[in-house]
Formats: sequence, C-alpha cells, structure tokens
Amino acid sequence: MSASKIGLDDIENASIDEIRAQQLSNLRKTLQHAYANSPVYKRKFDQHGVHPDELKSLEDLSKFPFTTKADLRDNYPFGVFCVPMDDIVRIHASSGTTGKPTVVGYTQNDIDAWAQVVARSIYAAGGRKNDKVHVSYGYGLFTGGLGAHYGAERLGCAVIPMSGGQTEKQVQLINDFQPDIIMVTPSYMLNIADEIDRQGLDPSKLRLRCGIFGAEPWTGEMRGELEQRLAIDAVDIYGLSEVMGPGVAQECVEGKDGPTIWEDHFYPEIINPDTGEVLPDGEEGELVFTNLQKEGMPMIRYRTRDLTRLLPGTSRSMRRMDKITGRSDDMLIIRGVNVFPSQIEEQILKVGGFAPHYLIEVSKEGNMDQLKVLVEAATDGSANDSNCAELQHHIKSLIGVSSSVVLQPAGSIPRSEGKAKRVIDNR
Ligand code: DLL
Repeated sequence: MSASKIGLDDIENASIDEIRAQQLSNLRKTLQHAYANSPVYKRKFDQHGVHPDELKSLEDLSKFPFTTKADLRDNYPFGVFCVPMDDIVRIHASSGTTGKPTVVGYTQNDIDAWAQVVARSIYAAGGRKNDKVHVSYGYGLFTGGLGAHYGAERLGCAVIPMSGGQTEKQVQLINDFQPDIIMVTPSYMLNIADEIDRQGLDPSKLRLRCGIFGAEPWTGEMRGELEQRLAIDAVDIYGLSEVMGPGVAQECVEGKDGPTIWEDHFYPEIINPDTGEVLPDGEEGELVFTNLQKEGMPMIRYRTRDLTRLLPGTSRSMRRMDKITGRSDDMLIIRGVNVFPSQIEEQILKVGGFAPHYLIEVSKEGNMDQLKVLVEAATDGSANDSNCAELQHHIKSLIGVSSSVVLQPAGSIPRSEGKAKRVIDNR
C-alpha cells in the first residue's frame, strides 16, 4: 500500500486505461455467462441477432438488447437467474407500485462483492473502521438495510441495525449509542431531525458527523438543509436492487460533487429514453447499467428509468453521475409541461421559511390539470402568505406551470419512514 493511496480498494487508484481494460474483459465474461446460463438472455440475444463473441470493444455493448423491468416480471420469480438455485444464498425483492415484485438472487461471491462496494462507499463518505454506523434503511426484502449492514460490518464498523420506523426509539439510540454515521433515506432523516428537536436534544452535541443518504431523489438544497440542521456532512449513495442494491455509486465526502460510479462492477451508459441511442458523457438521459462481476443475476443493459448524466472523475478516476433529476416514471406532465418533484423541492427550500416536508397533489378540473403544492411553515413559524405567493411565482416562472401553494398546519403532511411519497395524482 503506497502512502498516497486513495480509498479503500486498490482499484480506486487505477488509471482510466486500466479500468477500461478490466471492464472489457469482465464484460465479455458476463455476456458469455448470461448467454450460456440463462434461456432468457439467450433468447433475447438470438432474437436481436447478436452473440457475445461480437464484443470487441466496450462500445460494442450498444449492439446488445436492453433488459427492462418487464423482462424480470415476465420471468417472475427466478427466470433470469444465471446459476442453479443451489448457488443462490440470498433473495431480495423490490415492490414496484404495481404488480409483482422484482426479484434478485445473489451467490456468495455476489454478497461478498456487494459488501465490499458498500464498505468502499462508507469509506469514501469518510467512514473508518472505528466508527459506529446506525442503519435506518429498512431491513428485509428491500436491499437498503442488509446492504448497508454488510458493508459497514465489512469495513469493521460497529453496526446498529435499527431498520426503519419507531422514530422515538431511533432518536433514543442515536443519543445513547452516539453513532458517528447514519445511513437512511433523506426524507426519513428529516423526520428523525424533527424528533431530535421534539426531545429537546441539541444536534450539534450528538456525535453524528456524516449521513449517507439515498434510495430516493434529493436536491442540493436538501443537502444544505440536512447539513445545517444536523451539523453533519450529507453525502449521496445510489443503487438499485436489480443491479445490486445500495453502493452502485457513492459521493466522496471530499468533493460532494455527485456519486462516483464503482465502474469496476457496474458499467454505465446514458441513452436517449425514446430512441435507445447511446449519448456521449455530459448529456442527460436515462441511466443504463451492465453488471461486470455478478454471477447470480447479472443485468445486461438494464434500463433504470433514472435520469442523469455522466461526469468525469474527480476524487477518483472512475466517472461520476450527476444527482438524479427523477425517474422517467415520476415525471408529471401538467398542462403539457414536464415537472419533476425535485424541481418543486428545490424551489420550496430556496424561498425559505418552509419546512422541508411537502406534498404535490395533481387533479383535473374539467380538462385542465391542477397542481397543488402543500407545504408547512418551518418550526420557527416563519412562512406566511407572502412566502406562498413567492413560491407560486417561482414555480410559474422557473418551472413553467401555474400552481396553488397551500400552507398546511405544522405536522399535517405525512412523514416518511423510508422512501417518501411526494405525489398524489388524482387524474
Ligand atoms: O433504493 C437501493 C438503495 C438503498 C440505494 C439504500 C441507496 C440507499 P430500489 O428499492 O430498487 O433500491 O430502488 C432503486 O431508487 O432506480 C432510483 O430511482 C432510486 N434511488 C436510489 N438511490 C438514489 C439516489 C434502492 N441516491 C431506485 N438518488 C433507483 C436518487 C435514488 N434516487
């Protein structure tokens, strides 16, 4: 280990050329493994008229077909697994908003690799082996809790496996056990922060110094709010069950400039969501991932529906992704204007005086879409009708839609205990 080594793993110090060479060799292996061991992939590749041997460069990946949630649903529950059930040691599932859950299977090597990328993520967030890590992501079929847990343990931290819910007890343990790091959705962190206030505790006196927040979109403005309120560094962790779980990408604390994609495991592409064409780095589109080292259920060109762009590496040589703007399926079309909940969040926090809890209600009056933004005043009670008018004005002038902003009594907007539900669409 050289004195100038960055990060937890040697690969974080590799040059881009070394990373690309390793990616190509692992990509070839993954395509061959998928083709040889999964009838689903074999059929898809054959129908598309493409064979793993045709991959000569990373760019050749674009010749291969995409994998979508529908492929997983059509082959529910285990049809896309690429190893015999004997070799599977863990199953997770993510419940979509409709229909059957998406099921993922892991071999022991997959579980080890996952623990390692999460350990690497916690390290990049500033965590070290002597830290205590409080995990408030839900344990169970959701990958958040167990994913964070195995990673923190792998790094050598003392893990507090609290899971989601029981907010009063969360705060009691944060106060009694004095964890250094918390891993939780940003919306549930806000709920916990309110409870810290309610119990009359001073957040700056707690030992907590870092929050590793993800599993849902959150804005730069929300980072400011969380950091200031809790006196911590707030960094972004990204992932999805289909591809692994948390730890596909992690924001490095020294830059706080968007998650670094752990490219030795996950090969990213950005595509035009309408045409499927691969876009150059820097252009915004849909994020697509291909696993490079996964055995149980490698995803080949999995369409995440998440919208972002790829950025050059800064703290590491691997590329970064910009903060997720939203999912293409979360995009609201209001009187023809595309609106993401995150754009509204940004304006609420910019105007000031509001609590960071909000709800977006969409309805139809006659043929007209109506957008209502429900907000609460900050705990100091500062927001009034003029803040609401200002917010309404910004939503109109910066996002391009008319809305009505309605101030709700404190505490009336439902609080999150995991992934926040921000939109009620009654159309
Ligand atoms: O949410 C895995 C995870 C757990 C990531 C804990 C980070 C922390 P799923 O339930 O399959 O897995 O949901 C994946 O959540 O496609 C994004 O739309 C969204 N998402 C996850 N992380 C972020 C993030 C987990 N940092 C879906 N920013 C993804 C924005 C995120 N959206």
